[in-house]
Amino acid sequence: MTTDLPRRIVLIGFMGSGKSTVGRLLANALGWRFADLDERIEVEAGRSVPRIFAEDGEAFFRDLEERVADSILRRDHVVLAAGGGWAARPGRLSQVPDGTLTVWLQVSPEEAVRRVRGTPGSRPLLDVPDPLDRARALMAERGPRYATAACTVDTEGLEPIDVSRRILALLGATDNRTP
Ligand code: S3P
Repeated sequence: MTTDLPRRIVLIGFMGSGKSTVGRLLANALGWRFADLDERIEVEAGRSVPRIFAEDGEAFFRDLEERVADSILRRDHVVLAAGGGWAARPGRLSQVPDGTLTVWLQVSPEEAVRRVRGTPGSRPLLDVPDPLDRARALMAERGPRYATAACTVDTEGLEPIDVSRRILALLGATDNRTP
């Protein structure tokens, strides 16, 4: 793979946009490490994300999220799948370290809710009587911040491998390892 690659890539976007699945494929294609922000937070806290929300609240989770993300973003050759709320913080994307490519995986609220329905109880913010209504409200609030990413890929109707390939194409790279 010969191209001018960034030093690290951060996938951002709403819950259910495929950040973790795509991130793993992309890291594999690039021969880089993969980091899932929620998983790293769970290791750091020794508890699941829903438990952190339930026991200590969202503000506590956000501080931990910020700290764990900052430590991952100091590394090179890593693909980070950020949680859906990380990039929604004011000014967050403009403060990433030099050499970080931010990519927004776009998904509609309808599709996001359909995708996360498979893992009930895993997303505290959508654990409400009307998750679609909540998803629409959150997306309206967060969309303008997500849109400040350097690149955007619309994931609607695409398989994760196709999303990964689109990102590789944006990088001017190709995935030689995947048939
Ligand atoms: C959140 C998204 C989740 C997780 C937490 C909060 C959000 O991650 O960090 O439940 O605020 O959108 P995923 O986007 O990986 O589901």
